[in-house]
Parts: sequence; structure tokens; C-alpha cells
Amino acid sequence: MRINDIIVKKAEKQVLTNDEIEFFIKGYTSGEIPDYQASALLMAIKLNGMNDEETAYLTKAMMYSGKVLDWSWINRTIVDKHSTGGVGDKVSIALCPILAALGLTVAKMSGRGLGHTGGTLDKLESLEGFNISLSEEKFYETVKKHDIAIVGQNESLVPADKKIYALRDVTGTVNSIPLIASSIMSKKLATGSNCILLDVKCGNGAFMKNLDEAKRLGTLMIAIGKRLNRKIAVEITNMSQPLGKTIGNKIEVLEAIETIKGNGPKDFSEIIYSSGATLLQLAGKAKNEKEAILMIDEVIKNGKAYDKFVEWINAQGASEKQLTSSWFNPKYKHEIIATESGFLKINSAIDFGIVAMKLGAGRVKKEDKIDFEAGIYLNKSTNEFVKKGEVLFTLYSSKKIDKNLEQDLLKAIEFSKTPLSIKPVLAKLI
Ligand code: URA
Repeated sequence: MRINDIIVKKAEKQVLTNDEIEFFIKGYTSGEIPDYQASALLMAIKLNGMNDEETAYLTKAMMYSGKVLDWSWINRTIVDKHSTGGVGDKVSIALCPILAALGLTVAKMSGRGLGHTGGTLDKLESLEGFNISLSEEKFYETVKKHDIAIVGQNESLVPADKKIYALRDVTGTVNSIPLIASSIMSKKLATGSNCILLDVKCGNGAFMKNLDEAKRLGTLMIAIGKRLNRKIAVEITNMSQPLGKTIGNKIEVLEAIETIKGNGPKDFSEIIYSSGATLLQLAGKAKNEKEAILMIDEVIKNGKAYDKFVEWINAQGASEKQLTSSWFNPKYKHEIIATESGFLKINSAIDFGIVAMKLGAGRVKKEDKIDFEAGIYLNKSTNEFVKKGEVLFTLYSSKKIDKNLEQDLLKAIEFSKTPLSIKPVLAKLI
């Protein structure tokens, strides 16, 4: 077999076989196939696509390019959730302990934020002592004992994705539905979970900018999961506005905690209930959505979800005792005042993500250090009525705040005479 022939075949819109795809993944991961040939094939895939079968072969080849975790010894259904990334997305931090409090076993590997999207690992590390680098044995042990652990991506898992993702980033081939689907699914499948909820964010703050694209990606990931014997559900959720009222790290952890206690903002709480209900049904813990919602409500109201959160962060090295009123204590703050009245309309989530990043909440380059105090509080969120002179948003940082950032946010909003119809959950696919 020759890689040149495989490139030509895809460039001529033909369907690749399992052997050809495995040959490419093995050869590229081992270094036998150079970047320039891999780039040519990735571009041919981006331009000419792949059918579901080819994408499943690609996913499987990538998944087995490294270690695959084996949970068979634990004798429990392992659940996982994954978000394609957004602004203010703290869903995992609130949802995972709620699910664990309800007897599901959550074993999750998360990513860091890059660019305008925040990462769960960075948010968790804003809790002093929280250890995201558990050894494989400690990961297994924590999940067994506490039914929950969230750790960083292990280096030995899916090395093919690491190499291919870096190459896609610099060859204009990130934005390809089969390549995104195989990248996400290979990592989820290698983690070994049986029930996976994929939260596909949709809107200008997300990878998928419109509902059709999001549905195509979601449907494809479900098809891959089915071929590989996993239960997958997809929720397409709104990322045209930031999620909840906070963007940053400590500030988002605080909002997640408030939500676990039942005091979360409406849009974020709706996603927690919806995603939780989907996973409880997928894992066979609830008969229907109504029953699942009641179960979630119960552990939020009786405090078991918060107790599980505390147990979890303790198990990974952080104490809840640090969470006093001075835990979130930014040195600088800047309030943005409304210059007119009306129902607030946020037109662009990405602008909020970029301002949060510039305040220090995210990284411009991979090696940048995060300022855990930095972020944005949305005193008013979409559809709230605002009176001229009221505080719209508050910016926080440990460094002096550039006043020009105010204009960046003001150009991303408008005021409407009537409220809008905005749904946090746009579609569910099972
Ligand atoms: N997230 C991933 O892990 N891979 C992609 O290709 C896109 C989003």
C-alpha cells in the first residue's frame, strides 16, 4: 500500500477502505508518513468528505493509536459528557456531581481552554489544590470510591489526534465535519465510557455556527458511537450568547456551585436539567424525562448534589474551606453602564469570550498563564430589561483593566423594545 495512492483516491472522491485508513493513521502516528502527505490527505478529506463508514473506521483507527481505558472490572455503567466548547460553559462542573449524587459513575477527561473558549481543567484548577493529573491507578480508584473524577487528557491516549489536530490547525483543515467527529469521538471512546452525552454548541461563540451544521455533526457522532457499541445522545445548545451570568474561572466555579445548590441562572440551570435528564435516561436510571427531572431536583434541594461536589473536590485534593467570601478577590474591576433602556440583546458570544481572554481568563498562546480572578459578570443577561444608567456588565482582573474593552462589549449588544425568544437547548438527537 502507498500513501500516494490513498491521497489520489480521496482527491478523486472515492471511498477509502478500513485498511487504507488504518495504514494512514499508523504511518502518520509512527512518523513514517510525513506532514506534507498527511496534509494533502486531510485537505482531500475536507474537500470531498467521508461517508459514515469511513468516518467510523477513521475514529476506530485513531482510538486504537494509543491506550484505551478498560472499565470492565468496575461492573458499572460509566458515563461521560463532552462539550464542543463555548463561552461561560461550566456545565461539567455542575452536572457531574449531580449525576454522581444520583448514583451514576462519571469518569471524564477534559481539556484546557484555548482562544475564546474556556476549559473545564483551568476552571477546576482555580480551586487551590485541585489535582487534574491523577495517575491512571488513582483515576480508577477515585472513580470507584466516589463515582466521579475529572482529569486531564492522558498523554498515552489517542496520540494520532494530538498529531493530526496540530496539523489541521495550520493547514486549514480544522473545519471538516468528519475530521471533527473522529477527533472528538476517538478521545471519548478511548476513555472507555459506555454512555456519552455530546453537547454540541451552536452559534457564533462555537465551532458549529448554524443548526444544520450542528445537526450533521451530532448525527454523525451518534452513528459512529452506534457502530462501536456505545450509547450516545446529542444536545445542540445555544452559543449565540454566553452561558449563564459568568465568564472566567473562579467566577464560573462559583456560579456552578450556586447552580448545584439550586440558585443558578435560568438558561444555565435549564441546560443542567436537560443534559442531566438525557444522561439519566440513556444510562437507564430514569424511565422518562419527567422522572429524571424530579430526581435531579431532589438532590439539588436536599443538598446531596452539593455534598457530592465537596466529596469530589476533596478526593482530588481541594478543600471547600477555601470557598469563603474572599476566595474570589480580583484587584481591579470596571463596571459598564447602560446608555439606553430596553431588553438586552447579546449578538455575539465570541466577543465576550475574547474580552474575558484579554482580561486574563484565557490563553492567547498555549503556554500563557491564566489569571483565575479575571472574568466578566453579566449583571444583565439577554432578554433582561435594562434601565439607562444601570450596570450592564462588570469586568474583573488582577491587572489594570484596559477601558477599550468596554467598547468591544458594547458593539456586541443592542437594546430591543420587545423581548426575544431564545432557547438554551436547540435540539436533542438520540
Ligand atoms: N474538539 C476536538 O476535540 N476536535 C476537533 O476537531 C474539534 C473540537
